[in-house]
Amino acid sequence: MSEIAAGRQRRGEPVAGRSHGEVRNTTLFLRRWLANPLQMGSVIPSSPALCRRIAALVELAEDEVVVELGAGTGVISRALLEAGVPPERLVVVEIVRDMAEHLRGVLPGVNVIQGDAFDLAHALPARLHRKVGTAICGIPLVMLPLAQQRRFVDAVESVAPGKGFLLYTYCITSPLPYRKLGLQATREAWTPWNIPPASVWRYRPER
Ligand SMILES: C[S@@+](CC[C@H](N)C(=O)[O-])C[C@H]1O[C@@H](n2cnc3c(N)ncnc32)[C@H](O)[C@@H]1O
Repeated sequence: MSEIAAGRQRRGEPVAGRSHGEVRNTTLFLRRWLANPLQMGSVIPSSPALCRRIAALVELAEDEVVVELGAGTGVISRALLEAGVPPERLVVVEIVRDMAEHLRGVLPGVNVIQGDAFDLAHALPARLHRKVGTAICGIPLVMLPLAQQRRFVDAVESVAPGKGFLLYTYCITSPLPYRKLGLQATREAWTPWNIPPASVWRYRPER
């Protein structure tokens, strides 16, 4: 997928000083974490190094979109755009209204949907069903019971059959009991340049 490959650059740099935007993101993130720690999962946004690693794993055919579920402050969304995903082919789904509004402000041209990733068949416009090249999950699935994890897997499958999803995590091993969920799992990336160090897993339905 050459347009994505062309944008891949500067991967794996250490996290250096934080810009004004990053400080604002961290403040917003922390505020939401205080309001609902289980929904946020983490105290601070993902690092630039982790975001770039996620962006490098995107698969996107010409008629497809990337769907990011639980976009938070939009740090991964921005890395996707920097990596070459056109804004009109990026869809982000965020359940918290003020975060969705923030995303609309910082991601011009991107389709920001305030909705529930566990109800993706309704949240995502029908014209995008079966047009998802890559789904990226930022929701802390590891903290959820198996039945909820299964709901999430089924929700992605309902709009992107056979595609599976990317999930980033601080766990050393798979954050999902993938066999119980009927998934295949591959750890595709790891970076020490995140607090804490993080991995990116790709899950696909078992054939
Ligand atoms: C760990 S944060 C990820 C934020 C960002 N991607 C990052 O790496 O910094 C998880 C985000 O998922 C959102 N979220 C949680 N449950 C959700 C759901 N059911 N549907 C959509 N978004 C959800 C939360 O509001 C939060 O913004």
